[in-house]
Amino acid sequence: MSLIANSVTKIYDKGRPSEVKAVDNVSLTVNPGEIYLLMGPSGSGKTTLITILGGLLSATEGVVTVNGEDITKLKENKLPKFRLNNIGFIFQSFNLLSALTATENVAVPLIAKGVSRKKSLEQARSLLKILGLENRSNNKPADLSGGEKQRVAIARALITDPAVLLADEPTANLDSKNGHEVMMKLCGIACEQNKSVIIVSHDSRIKEIAHKVLWVEDGKLTKEEEGNHKKVCPHENLV
Ligand SMILES: Nc1ncnc2c1ncn2[C@@H]1O[C@H](COP(=O)(O)OP(=O)(O)OP(=O)(O)O)[C@@H](O)[C@H]1O
Ligand SMILES: [Mg+2]
Repeated sequence: MSLIANSVTKIYDKGRPSEVKAVDNVSLTVNPGEIYLLMGPSGSGKTTLITILGGLLSATEGVVTVNGEDITKLKENKLPKFRLNNIGFIFQSFNLLSALTATENVAVPLIAKGVSRKKSLEQARSLLKILGLENRSNNKPADLSGGEKQRVAIARALITDPAVLLADEPTANLDSKNGHEVMMKLCGIACEQNKSVIIVSHDSRIKEIAHKVLWVEDGKLTKEEEGNHKKVCPHENLV
């Protein structure tokens, strides 16, 4: 099932002198197995747009459909459960819980879904291993580097196997080697697990793994370009 935005607009502080049109009439469709890269200057509305697509912020106008469900119409008490089951979100600022270890942070969404604590922690540990954090899994966020925290946040977004994965600057805190590894992991996950992925980034290397690159300026989609995904993805032939 796809991720579809139809004429989405977000106006902050509507009607006040500080009013800002952060997202302006954006429409897009990301099919399963596709990775879209959103690029654009600081303040152009990228975070606002994916936050709306992830059901974490309401749009002023427009419709967002995830897995066939119009999330703009979902009642507030239904939205958290829908998000938990369908959307993985990697925040620009990680949003890890400081009192919990890396493993516990990753396990939180599974525990919230009702999976036993033991099983959730086991799955969290194996996902952290895949992301190269085997030896850091008992550390709390304060004792992790920026790149390690980034990978914990990625694992937490993936643990529930969501159909839609949204990532805000997922490689911003990673050096080029780790950045490349994370990129290729996201690439493989999108293909093999048929996820609809949107990555917001200033990192033009992500064009390599994207099917499509969209430019955002002043809240509008202004340009579209093919990415290199088909050329580089080692998983492309597997699906
Ligand atoms: N909660 C808010 N209230 C009012 N204005 C906001 C709020 N959040 C963002 N804005 C404004 O909306 C516009 C878009 O911000 P947004 O954070 O979406 O940009 P961005 O493209 O993600 O930028 P960056 O690349 O710096 O992360 C900016 O002008 C910003 O100041
Ligand atoms: Mg941003």
